[in-house]
Amino acid sequence: MHSIMRWLILCLVSSPLLAASPDGVVSASHPAAAAAGARILEEGGNAVDAAAAMQFALNVVEPQSSGIGGGAFMLVHLARTGETFVVDSRERAPAAASADMFVSNGEAMAFPFASTSGLAVGVPGTVRGVDTALRRWGTKTLADTLAPAIELAEHGFRVNRFLAADIAADDGRTQLHPETAAIFRPGGVPLAEGDWLVQRDLAKTLRLIATKGQDAFYHGPLARAIVTAQQHTRSELGEAGKGRMTLDDLADYQAAVREPLIGHYRGWTIKGMPPPSSGGLTVLQMLGMLERFPLGDAAHGFGFGSPKTLHVMIEAMRLAFADRAVWIGDDDSVRVPTRGLLDAGYIDSRAARIRTDSRMATPRAGDPAARHHTAGQPELPRIREESPHTTHFSVVDRWGNVASVTSTIEYTWGSGITVPGYGFLLNNELTDFNLMPATTAGDRGANDVSPRKRPRSSMAPMLLFRDGKPVAAYGSPGGATIINSVLNVTLNLIDHKMPLQQAIDAPRLSVTNAAGKVACEGEETFMQPRFGIDVQDALRKQGHVGLGEAGTDGCQETMGSVQAVVIDLATGAHHGAADRRREGAVIRVTPSLQPRPGP
Ligand code: GLY
Repeated sequence: MHSIMRWLILCLVSSPLLAASPDGVVSASHPAAAAAGARILEEGGNAVDAAAAMQFALNVVEPQSSGIGGGAFMLVHLARTGETFVVDSRERAPAAASADMFVSNGEAMAFPFASTSGLAVGVPGTVRGVDTALRRWGTKTLADTLAPAIELAEHGFRVNRFLAADIAADDGRTQLHPETAAIFRPGGVPLAEGDWLVQRDLAKTLRLIATKGQDAFYHGPLARAIVTAQQHTRSELGEAGKGRMTLDDLADYQAAVREPLIGHYRGWTIKGMPPPSSGGLTVLQMLGMLERFPLGDAAHGFGFGSPKTLHVMIEAMRLAFADRAVWIGDDDSVRVPTRGLLDAGYIDSRAARIRTDSRMATPRAGDPAARHHTAGQPELPRIREESPHTTHFSVVDRWGNVASVTSTIEYTWGSGITVPGYGFLLNNELTDFNLMPATTAGDRGANDVSPRKRPRSSMAPMLLFRDGKPVAAYGSPGGATIINSVLNVTLNLIDHKMPLQQAIDAPRLSVTNAAGKVACEGEETFMQPRFGIDVQDALRKQGHVGLGEAGTDGCQETMGSVQAVVIDLATGAHHGAADRRREGAVIRVTPSLQPRPGP
């Protein structure tokens, strides 16, 4: 029996969503990806090695969400030195990109067309990012970590209900290109749950990278195939929709190793993703504002799911998202006032706008500039709804090294373009930029397109520390709602003192713009305790929007998919929990091999 199948079976028979261990623990949104990580731990690998294997396996079993055609952020904490790093393998705009490239006849191109044309494809970073992490901190080779994914692609796996649902409700994306349709709709029939999916081209590609190294992706025939594939355009856009990526763009791509963003909340330390993601900054801003309220205190009307708690969360989200829209972009291209946005005085001034008894008028971005650098008072640029896809996985190894990784090809199915003969999807990450340059509306254009720039992300891999020691790693997919899924889980852990699995199961609430349209969960029975209709009515009475008519249940959504590991400081045990919103799986590994040194 193939070893990946052995691990899959182990996973399915053990399949607890919660497992305790002093050893290695992996958590991923698909059991086969968790199995790939577990296998590497079993073979003596560390957290970075396991994360690499999970990333490649997810490309095979959850191809609609992430892969080698996309990009990722990996937070790595090293037990031996106590250091934390970020590997930023975010896609970049090609050198020939321009601020107005998504503008046609004076208007922003429609997202469905722009995002499925080659113009949306950013220079992929995942392969260089994984390779960078392995070279710095791994103990396994790229080939070792690709092995489980190659087996899965070559021998196949059973399509789960989430992949089947994404094929069925694909916005046409698996149907636009014959190469994509041939994989996911063989003979014109969409794959259904339980079907067996073999991806020979993808296996060949992964084997090529395993044999020849990461350069095989960024140079030579594979690079040429990527450049050709992204020259595809939608007929609605004509020549304007053709991608601008060249072989030089691919050859020049480098992953960046960054310092994490560091913040504090009620005595806990949080390390998150700096720009080009808005994830870390926006979560830390919201926590800073919410620290002024005793969210866990039911005696004062707060506590999980109370109208007062939800109201102040909504208001903090509205304020932070107003800032995010204006101030955050790729810090390597535009100046982001990071210190100003996290300045205690600035956060105080923002939090002072939150009243527990009334809803504020639509807030504008603040002016953190005075605390960082000078700039004008900006308008809010237009925003678009973001895709619920992307994926998050977490791992802690037996030495206590931790990796927390969020990875994406942007929209579900990315651009929908499969590189012919190579079997992987290309991202549409460049539509995470402002499609209409915000500078045209007098804004500073922090997230406008420019050459070699990275589009602003919402991805928010997190690490939580107590007394200088890592205690939890988590993150989520979900476009802009990522930020709020991560916030909800953080509050559940710290303020509401929930065990990890409950913190993940509990219903989430999200607002992703200053106008404040509320989205909340309640679709699945495990989302407990529910936000009742009485609670929703109290919010409606305060003027909160998005919940529908009084007396009805407006909490019908499902958002995010949080995969987490925790380290119990008292016992030293490692635990994991995974999200039932997808097929989350946790595997605990008690290695039989002699320990090898961690990174
Ligand atoms: N494309 C999803 C994100 O980066 O936030």
